[in-house]
Amino acid sequence: MAGDGRLTGKVALITGAARGQGRSHAVALARQGASIAAVDIAAQIESVPYPMATPEDLEETVRLVEEAGGRCLPIVADVRDILAMDSAVKQTLSELGRIDIALANAGVLHIAGSGESLVESAVRWNDAVGVMLTGVYNTIRVVQQPLIDQGTGGSIVITSSTAGLSGMHDGSGGIAAYCASKHGVVGLMRGYAKILGRHNIRVNSVHPMGVATPMVVNEEFQKYHADHADVLEISPRLLPMTLLEPGDVSAAILWLVSDDARAVTGIALPVDCGVTCP
Ligand SMILES: NC(=O)c1ccc[n+]([C@@H]2O[C@H](COP(=O)([O-])OP(=O)(O)OC[C@H]3O[C@@H](n4cnc5c(N)ncnc54)[C@H](O)[C@@H]3O)[C@@H](O)[C@H]2O)c1
Repeated sequence: MAGDGRLTGKVALITGAARGQGRSHAVALARQGASIAAVDIAAQIESVPYPMATPEDLEETVRLVEEAGGRCLPIVADVRDILAMDSAVKQTLSELGRIDIALANAGVLHIAGSGESLVESAVRWNDAVGVMLTGVYNTIRVVQQPLIDQGTGGSIVITSSTAGLSGMHDGSGGIAAYCASKHGVVGLMRGYAKILGRHNIRVNSVHPMGVATPMVVNEEFQKYHADHADVLEISPRLLPMTLLEPGDVSAAILWLVSDDARAVTGIALPVDCGVTCP
């Protein structure tokens, strides 16, 4: 989308920004004039079966944001660590001056299938819930006070999934945790929409179907998909698309964080070709 400066002067903190959808959101918001705090673990979590982002990926996000005309502050932090996230917020405030927008986007997908041990189930469950439920809570917990103190409102968007609106399960700890976390953040979103609304801080979630990012465009996922299509296909798509592009989700988020959506809070917005249409 061409830039029209609708986010000029705003600062967005984005988790999981080293690649994939987080990077796409960073570039899309920068194109509209925002400065970006790009937060990512930029390291492997041992239980995750595909390569996660690297420091080089985070550097590439910085390059692309700058190319789009924005400032970009890269921050290596694990969303599971509330003190590291608090430091990320403090660094953002000190170097970029403010925070207006927070995108809680970081995620992992423990595709495993059958045959995992009890201990493997527990490790995958804990790691996935840690990133996608606790990590979202931590992100909101550390940004809420600066947003309130600024007194100029704000917008928080959580990236959930179609798996946060409809059951997706194969019995493994990681997929159970993915589905439970993505549902769980809807509760967080609704609760925070209620408590932050009086400060003109809006809180919403987006629910994409499959998106062409390294989370699913990898060998492990292709193997899993071949054996478990029934788990992943919640119901037929109403539109003729197989996978979304990250920019499809960025466009929805750009609308949610802009003044065009100034009256919108507490919604769970599917970006899913109608997959979750009842
Ligand atoms: N790709 C899909 O099909 C799809 C569909 C629906 C929802 N989602 C969700 O979209 C979000 C973005 O995923 P993506 O598709 O861009 O995948 P991705 O793997 O390309 O990007 C995820 C990013 O999150 C980072 N991350 C993971 N754990 C972290 C942690 N503990 N702390 C900080 N950063 C961490 C990774 O390093 C990576 O850069 C995730 O929440 C995911 O669950 C993805």
